[in-house]
Amino acid sequence: AILIVDFGSQVTQLIARRLRELNVYCEIHPFSSAASALKDMNPRGIILSGGPASVLDENAPHIDQALLDANVPILGICYGQQALCMALGGNVEAGLDAEYGRATLNIDKPCSIFSGEWAVGEEQQVWMSHGDRVTQIPEGFEVVATSAGAPLAVIANEEKRMWAVQFHPEVHHTPNGAELYKNFVIDICGCTGDWTMGAYREQAIQQIRDQVGDAKVICGLSGGVDSSVAAVLIHEAIGDQLTCIFVDHGLLRLNEAEEVVNLFRDHYNIPLVHVDAADEFLGELDGKSDPEEKRKIIGRLFIETFDKEAKKVGGAKFLAQGTLYPDVIESVSFTGGPSVTIKSHHNVGGLPEKMDLKLVEPLRELFKDEVRALGRELGLPESFVGRHPFPGPGLAIRCPGGVNKEKADILRKADAIYLDEIRKSGQYDKIWQAFAVLLPVQTVGVMGDGRTYEFVCALRAVTSVDGMTADFYQFDMDFLGRTATRIINEVKGINRVVYDVTSKPPGTIEWE
Ligand code: XMP
Repeated sequence: AILIVDFGSQVTQLIARRLRELNVYCEIHPFSSAASALKDMNPRGIILSGGPASVLDENAPHIDQALLDANVPILGICYGQQALCMALGGNVEAGLDAEYGRATLNIDKPCSIFSGEWAVGEEQQVWMSHGDRVTQIPEGFEVVATSAGAPLAVIANEEKRMWAVQFHPEVHHTPNGAELYKNFVIDICGCTGDWTMGAYREQAIQQIRDQVGDAKVICGLSGGVDSSVAAVLIHEAIGDQLTCIFVDHGLLRLNEAEEVVNLFRDHYNIPLVHVDAADEFLGELDGKSDPEEKRKIIGRLFIETFDKEAKKVGGAKFLAQGTLYPDVIESVSFTGGPSVTIKSHHNVGGLPEKMDLKLVEPLRELFKDEVRALGRELGLPESFVGRHPFPGPGLAIRCPGGVNKEKADILRKADAIYLDEIRKSGQYDKIWQAFAVLLPVQTVGVMGDGRTYEFVCALRAVTSVDGMTADFYQFDMDFLGRTATRIINEVKGINRVVYDVTSKPPGTIEWE
């Protein structure tokens, strides 16, 4: 394994991505707890991330001496380079000429992290982002590559097995950056690159068995990728010690509940409790239009319903959750200030505390695309594995102004037609998320010889890599026209369709 020490860079997670792509296992730990992680992990190598601080600041984060004494290869990136130099007796100065963006690197000398494209005499495009720069390298190091703004762009001490670069090899603006990581983790550190999903599956199954023994586990199933993969994996590990609880709040998409029940109960034979709680949820939501209030009602009812059903199952000691790695990484924050809540997303938070259960989280080491790969490895159908994200509060937050059964039914039909057209035209996998929204506005139309006065349906589709930022998806007009016609003809209650061309920011993906 490789230990990635986080100094707070925005792109630290990308280092982990690059290593995972090489089938190398790694963990990210904040600089302040890296020494204890070192003991637990016994890694083959250490990567020091970039970070926003200046090593010249009084309270600048520093490299724990234990890491330097560990006698494993070390690679410093940007702030990691500067911190390494300071720790080993070099010098760093506040850069008068801070460097941000593309730069050209000249490779001057051979070095064991260089190979292939990175050959002596060649130029490489790299991404720089630094204010300070190293002005004097520690004893035993030599400069092996330079750039106009960073004369000490890559430094190396082959004997001590330490390398450091001023730029960011993990970002895609450094096109050949992955090769540097490969040379470091495979050739230098000796990682074998055999961390595959098949291996992970076996390892995870063993861990689940060790953790739960013969105790009972309950798992909240939503039909989304994460909880589906977690449930199938845990069932493979402990069989019928697992019971899944599927709380159906009546705000799911068309036929979604049946699909979940068919797959998990009938196909996988997983004990599944299907709670039809639509009346309760819709009852309490009646007359409520504030988005946050709707979320709170749904969150609370979800916990209450789940808790009640879990008690009926009886004797469970563990709660399974599909927590992913990005939720787990303890973030390093230097700003300290509170961040603004735009939406209160995690509506199932609070379950484990309330229920006094221990957690089983077999996906907590994985990124989303790795969860999908594991799902395929476990034989989950593509229609589940490749699913667009769907929010916990479901259609409630797609009916601005207030939701009831009638509106949810109208929206469900329109949404199903829209997704059907997207699938048929082969665009589903190009889109991060696509859905219909039912607006609380009626407009006038004419159908046949009659006047209509019905609701407006808005269609939304976005591309994104992580849901944090998004662009609206560019359908062609024929597609939109065809889909609008079908929705208006087939769904009673809608007589006008519009397409949302807002990006995020300034919009959000959902309308509420
Ligand atoms: P926004 O609308 O904030 O959405 O741009 C970003 C991602 O989060 C999903 N989302 C939610 N997921 N509960 C959830 O579980 C929520 O209350 C919620 N609100 C938004 C949204 O679908 C998108 O994938």
